[in-house]
Amino acid sequence: MKVLKNWNEIGNAVNSLVKAGLPLHSTPAKCWDFNNIREVFSQSPFNESSHIVDLGCGPSLNGCMTLELLYSMGYRNLTGVDIHIPGYTRLAAAIRGFKKARNMKQYKMVTSDITATKFPDNSVDGAVLLSVVEHGVDLEKLFSELKRIMRQGGKVYLSTDYWEKGAGLGKDAMAASGALDNKALPWTIFDKKAVENLIMIAEANGFNAQGGGSIPPCEDRPVYWQDIDYTFIALVFEKK
Ligand SMILES: C[S@@+](CC[C@H](N)C(=O)[O-])C[C@H]1O[C@@H](n2cnc3c(N)ncnc32)[C@H](O)[C@@H]1O
Repeated sequence: MKVLKNWNEIGNAVNSLVKAGLPLHSTPAKCWDFNNIREVFSQSPFNESSHIVDLGCGPSLNGCMTLELLYSMGYRNLTGVDIHIPGYTRLAAAIRGFKKARNMKQYKMVTSDITATKFPDNSVDGAVLLSVVEHGVDLEKLFSELKRIMRQGGKVYLSTDYWEKGAGLGKDAMAASGALDNKALPWTIFDKKAVENLIMIAEANGFNAQGGGSIPPCEDRPVYWQDIDYTFIALVFEKK
């Protein structure tokens, strides 16, 4: 489990991705996640044909950004899932794939609720949830679905907005999505208690939190969105 400490960590992550010739996320702070994802998915049990899914892949003019990263790392069995995947994201993915490898279908994109996907049982080796669970996702339903679709030993990388004492967002807070239509999404910033609750739900559904349940302390607030300063927390779960 990692808490993003400061801007230095973001800068180091950007440099490390650039040196490795890997794509960056358009939100600089999420390059910290990209470097974490690179680390997690470079290890066993993953290989080129492992099925890795990006849950809440998001509307972007850059295609599904996490899948762009994983494709550049050599993965070839990738699927993005989101409740809303606009045409411009599909077009961007096709253009990027064509430019990179004359391949307009680098990865699949499926429009679906991530808590009720159509993936067969035990068919997924790895899952990424980047900046998703803070947007109104029912955690019980999510982990029950992950339990169904993930293979034994499969890994989940989950990163979310965090400030250990809470960031003072109201119950009905909404965040502009950053998509072209900027449709607002429900928004919460997890505090320590909420992360402990998330880990409890994951464990009840057969997932171990890597590194145990101890949450590192917050240091600085390098992330800024809608007049709030906070940070990110990243957790890795393995299906027992
Ligand atoms: C802030 S965006 C993050 C996009 C991308 N992961 C990234 O970090 O660049 C959150 C995404 O989660 C999606 N999302 C939230 N709840 C969802 C659900 N229950 N099923 C599918 N997608 C969901 C939203 O539609 C949105 O595209």
